[in-house]
Amino acid sequence: MDQTVAIETARLGKVYDGVTAIQELSFKVFAGEIFGLLGPNGAGKSTTLRILITLLRPTTGQATVLGHDVVREADCVRRSVGYVPQERAIDRFLTGREHLLLLGDLYHLSKDETQRRIAELLKLVDLEDQADRPAKTYSGGMKRKLDIACGLLPNPKILFLDEPTLGLDVQSRLRIWDYVRHLHERGMTIVLTTNYLDEADRLCDRLAIIDGGRIKALGSPSELKAGLGGDIVSVILGAGEMTRVEALASALKGLPSIKSISTKPTGLDIRVESPEKALPAVLEAANRLACRIEFIDYHRPRLDDVFVAHTGHAIREEFPMENVES
Ligand SMILES: Nc1ncnc2c1ncn2[C@@H]1O[C@H](COP(=O)(O)OP(=O)(O)OP(=O)(O)O)[C@@H](O)[C@H]1O
Ligand SMILES: [Mg+2]
Repeated sequence: MDQTVAIETARLGKVYDGVTAIQELSFKVFAGEIFGLLGPNGAGKSTTLRILITLLRPTTGQATVLGHDVVREADCVRRSVGYVPQERAIDRFLTGREHLLLLGDLYHLSKDETQRRIAELLKLVDLEDQADRPAKTYSGGMKRKLDIACGLLPNPKILFLDEPTLGLDVQSRLRIWDYVRHLHERGMTIVLTTNYLDEADRLCDRLAIIDGGRIKALGSPSELKAGLGGDIVSVILGAGEMTRVEALASALKGLPSIKSISTKPTGLDIRVESPEKALPAVLEAANRLACRIEFIDYHRPRLDDVFVAHTGHAIREEFPMENVES
């Protein structure tokens, strides 16, 4: 990957009327990569994006986009970025095509250029057949596709996508991931925000985990997972068996295949070097102690484990299993 820096922030902070939205945010985005800001509601993702596209001024710190300062050289920055907001206002009467035509005017593109780009973009996002229907009659997924086409109309060097697949069904999400990958293959730099772990994992080259306005971890999904050191065996004990949890933990402590053990209200989380050795050892110890296991699960580190390890909580209260196949 090209190591040219496309975006750099240094100790970026934003306070809205006494509310600190982000603080001390320092990160780089390299040219041509898909960079993700992953965090829960209120983490500061949209605020960060809006500063980078010059819609908001930072309270502290600096940011540059393609070498231009987002405050002092906001005009230069605006000319090189495309933005797909979290929620775009769709006009009540305009068709999809008319939305794009209007934007062409706004960006002062020539008529020919606008027509050419609209045809290309409608094809890219698969909206050619629906282009002449009022956009308000579109489904959620179709509206999101139109949003992406709008963000791409100025032919930006960097595309910012704020929660590109929020609330969409699985099929629509997969289509949008495909468009993002396609743009990436064409060399575009993409910055997206998400609170979907699977989206960050599958789509992003690198990501920053952001929580409470601060960066908690930064790296590629595989680096972040490898950083946890070891695969995870999660043991849930049967009702009334928790009295034996300490005995089970002591029996396992020090075994060669086991790296660390932490107790949780329902059982144990065990970090292991090799599951082939660790799993039989766990089962053998439980059997010896007559400790009834309700559930045992082995998995490679996932991004949800990374998130919990760095923030101390799950990304959402009810952590849904996000197993979207792509
Ligand atoms: N205009 C505003 N005035 C006051 N506070 C704001 C404003 N916009 C955002 N905030 C606050 O700043 C913090 C970060 O908000 P932001 O919208 O950046 O989070 P987010 O990560 O995009 O969340 P979500 O996932 O819900 O979109 C929140 O505490 C929010 O309430
Ligand atoms: Mg947001």
